[in-house]
Amino acid sequence: MRERRPAVLSVPPMPPRSTPAAALLAWYDRHARDLPWRAPRGVTPDPYAVWLSEVMLQQTTVAAVGPYFRRFLERWPDVRALAAAPDEEIMREWAGLGYYSRARNLVACARILAERGGFPSDEAGLRELPGVGPYTAAAIAAIAFDRRAVVVDGNVERVVSRLFAIDTPLPLAKPEIRARADELTPEKRAGDFAQAMMDLGATICTPKKPACVLCPLAERCLARKSGAPESWPRRAPKSARLERRGAAFVAIRGDDAVLLRTRPPKGLLGGMTEFPGTEWSSDFDSARALDAAPLALAWKAASGEVEHVFTHFALKLTVFVGRAPKSCAAPEGARWALLAGLPGEALPSLMRKVARQAGFDLPARPRT
Ligand code: ADE
Repeated sequence: MRERRPAVLSVPPMPPRSTPAAALLAWYDRHARDLPWRAPRGVTPDPYAVWLSEVMLQQTTVAAVGPYFRRFLERWPDVRALAAAPDEEIMREWAGLGYYSRARNLVACARILAERGGFPSDEAGLRELPGVGPYTAAAIAAIAFDRRAVVVDGNVERVVSRLFAIDTPLPLAKPEIRARADELTPEKRAGDFAQAMMDLGATICTPKKPACVLCPLAERCLARKSGAPESWPRRAPKSARLERRGAAFVAIRGDDAVLLRTRPPKGLLGGMTEFPGTEWSSDFDSARALDAAPLALAWKAASGEVEHVFTHFALKLTVFVGRAPKSCAAPEGARWALLAGLPGEALPSLMRKVARQAGFDLPARPRT
């Protein structure tokens, strides 16, 4: 008699793809970007690494953050080490990442966390920390603590507004987008879901020419059905960006020292190092620029201007270069610093551009 074979009962379990979250998580399991702050699957993420990366990623790209994140983690492997570090050292390592109030909040936050002995694990507790807003609190709660939290950044806004073809323009559409993101967020793996949305937005559902053929949500996407997915998110017309101008003065002394000063602790680029300069204003009078020169030297304008875009305005700086004798004393509020030590100064990107315009060989970002 022929042996009867057992019926094949065990088909390998397939993740249910009945919801957008399930489809997206299945895609993420295969295509997640390998980013330095991500824990391998099955490994519990380190809240310190998640917090540090999320603060660095506020308004800075994934590509730019990578080297900074690695350096911080190498130098200060946990929150206690960071809390014990001198402010200036942290500011120096941060230089080039921009938005320096974030670095000051990072330091303040590290000290609070070291004191209380760790991170709160819920959104409400996280939001009380300096520099941790609604987005960052949700991201840390979801990614580091596996809490269900609705995480909405720019990438998520784009994906959601396309998925539902939301016609309300941004920023008015934010509450609607958030409500839709809330509907989509699963009870389990909310952190992976949030990062999957970010990865989808960064690699497939890109602002221009989205790669819909590769998208795990394509079949459900209303913007794709319309034939012009790139026309979402809708945006209110942009008012012209405010432009400001000014001048920066690079004085070089005979012993290869340059004149620097430290910006006031609060406000734009607070506490960072700069070359002395004029105020930056929309009615800057270039004919009077030299009135603000820190020393009476034969100043020569470098050709071309330095351009830099801040959140609320675009800046154009004329760079003046002057040679000072070895005996020249620094005016009040400024100091001479040896050129060789310039890469170690807390010079923001704007001032690195100024240095390069003056002819110094300085990398755009420190040691990257
Ligand atoms: N942007 C902000 N946080 C991120 C993360 N965890 N992964 C990818 N991109 C991000």
